[in-house]
Amino acid sequence: MAVSRYGWLVSELNRYSKLYHEHNVSEIPDPEYDALYRELEELEARHPELRQPDSPTQRVGGAPQPGLKPFVHEVPMLSLQNAFTSGEIEEFDRRIRRQIGGGSSHFRYQVEPKLDGLAMELVYENGTFVRGGTRGDGQTGEDVTHNLRTIPSVPLQLANAPAGRLSVRGEVLFDLPGFERMNDRREREGERRFENPRNAAAGTMRQLDPKMVKGRPLHFYAHSAGVMPEGLTAGAQSELSAEFARWGFKVNPLNVVVEGVAAVLAAIESLRQQRGGLDYEIDGAVVKVDSFDLQDRLGFVTRSPRWAVAYKYPPERVQTVLEDALFSVGRTGAVTPVACLRPVRVGGVTVSRTTLHNEDELARLDLCVGDTVEVERAGDVIPKVVRVVVDEGHASRPRVRYPAVCPECGSPLVRDAEESATRCPNELECPAQVRRVIEHFASRLCMDIEGLGEKLVDQLVSAGLVRRPSDIFRLDVEALTRLDRMGTQSAQNLMRAIEKSRGRGLDRVVMALGIRHVGETTARDLARHFGTIDALMAASEADLTAVEGVGVTVAKSVTRFMADARNRDEIQALRALGVVFAPVSAPRGVRLGGKTFVLTGTFPSMGREEAKQLLEAAGAKVSGSVSKKTDYVVAGAEAGSKLDRARELNIAILDEAGMLSILAASSEVG
Ligand code: IVH
Repeated sequence: MAVSRYGWLVSELNRYSKLYHEHNVSEIPDPEYDALYRELEELEARHPELRQPDSPTQRVGGAPQPGLKPFVHEVPMLSLQNAFTSGEIEEFDRRIRRQIGGGSSHFRYQVEPKLDGLAMELVYENGTFVRGGTRGDGQTGEDVTHNLRTIPSVPLQLANAPAGRLSVRGEVLFDLPGFERMNDRREREGERRFENPRNAAAGTMRQLDPKMVKGRPLHFYAHSAGVMPEGLTAGAQSELSAEFARWGFKVNPLNVVVEGVAAVLAAIESLRQQRGGLDYEIDGAVVKVDSFDLQDRLGFVTRSPRWAVAYKYPPERVQTVLEDALFSVGRTGAVTPVACLRPVRVGGVTVSRTTLHNEDELARLDLCVGDTVEVERAGDVIPKVVRVVVDEGHASRPRVRYPAVCPECGSPLVRDAEESATRCPNELECPAQVRRVIEHFASRLCMDIEGLGEKLVDQLVSAGLVRRPSDIFRLDVEALTRLDRMGTQSAQNLMRAIEKSRGRGLDRVVMALGIRHVGETTARDLARHFGTIDALMAASEADLTAVEGVGVTVAKSVTRFMADARNRDEIQALRALGVVFAPVSAPRGVRLGGKTFVLTGTFPSMGREEAKQLLEAAGAKVSGSVSKKTDYVVAGAEAGSKLDRARELNIAILDEAGMLSILAASSEVG
């Protein structure tokens, strides 16, 4: 029993962790993850013989993202033990007192917000920022120096800098109001919303192109040191925090120093009460023994210090009114109930709509329009309606019922037993599904047809001009200009964007086809493995599961898709219309082809001509003057008017190191 439970826990926790670290997706709420993790720890404590080397307790993160260079931590980045109750904090305090002995009963703690961001290490040499990276597995993370340089609160030069090397650790946080603004914009432009600010910060920091990062509202708060600078006089965590501030870092203003466990608990509670009003997310409080001498005496257990603990807040819950419910039809026909709520702030974000997931969840909740409901948001996940607050009005209010027919096309809905989803089976005719299929096909990660967003797709489908993706390639300027608010110029631009999209290559077009369970990574794996669409179309389930990372679900989904004559006809139609179904070699992440660079000033390790040759070899254009068309200005020492002009035009500015990391990224991805 223990053995099979152990195996299950290891594989599930590893899977969540991989999804989270490599794809910025959280499949289960944090508290559930924590509960499973604790169960695993307890099982390992009781049955040490079960412990496997790949157990998540033996490492701290996921594998690095391809395209970013590894970043090795000189001193490993550890994690903190968690506590969930005041009893566990009291136990932590007792343990410390026991260990340090009765003599030193007067010592202090620093209590800090546990910042719910992305852990980062910044390395400084003689006060100059030289590189920075994510935590990764605690030993090796990813080098994101190029992106860190664009964050205003990352000091590039420290004030009163100590000599030698030092490393400062902290969290990169996404500002909450900025997060909501960005998500609204993404939605308007047909891009996927980020699930939460932490995922947004993670997704942003792992961009290969610093231009995508610049301007996003990110902050860096310093909270600890890796490599301590020589000659540091600070003798306590609180003094180190003050030193960080003197050097020019942001230090959290809510940090407090207290004595005694009662004061620790009061500080934790006070932070919890301030949580909802903050502009960034916190998911708990970190309690640290303040004195470095005591910290040294207490030492470490395997992967965390004995002198600190993270108290995790329970997910926040609030009440609001269910104003309405609607049913949204997705690309695969799944009909999802959506709650329309009186807007309410919970866990730092304002919620007015949230998914009720599926027919079963709707039945479980037993909702009526006008009911007061409890909404919970655990740091990581989309807000969830947990339950109805039943009052005397409940019984007489109109019940929210799951529809029997598709709200868009009226087809009787079909229950998908495998996936607890209920679907509209009218795949090719249901206007909602048609719109979503086209939107997906044209979206940025698929064929990336600029200008073909939600609104235009809606117009094209309503006008009967587009029913299947191949129809996009049958459009012409004349047909387009018949649409409302579409002038000749816009029509020509769209035609050019469509033209450009034909050559995106096999992996993108495989993803664009919208095969269920085939996302970006799987599409790339399939394209690499099979090389041609004919080979993929002919592949059996066994051929497919032979591809690393492809399981039975994906294999079944691909063979089912390819067995459908309508899909095969669509592929042939796309081909006949000039869509390329072969691999293209252009790197995917940063494509320097088409990017324009301007070089100015003197670089530390190479001449300008050498830099120019490197860039041109990677397909970039190097120009002599800065204009709106310039993508990057690489500025060395004594850069003059070109740098000023770049600032005026808000063009991304790199130094030599930044340019080299882009070059490295563009040659590694393929
Ligand atoms: S101190 C030995 N202070 O929490 C670890 N960490 O599980 C020393 N975190 O990813 C870390 N807020 O980056 C510290 N105020 C804070 C923190 C904090 C968030 C993160 C940390 C790490 C995780 C530890």
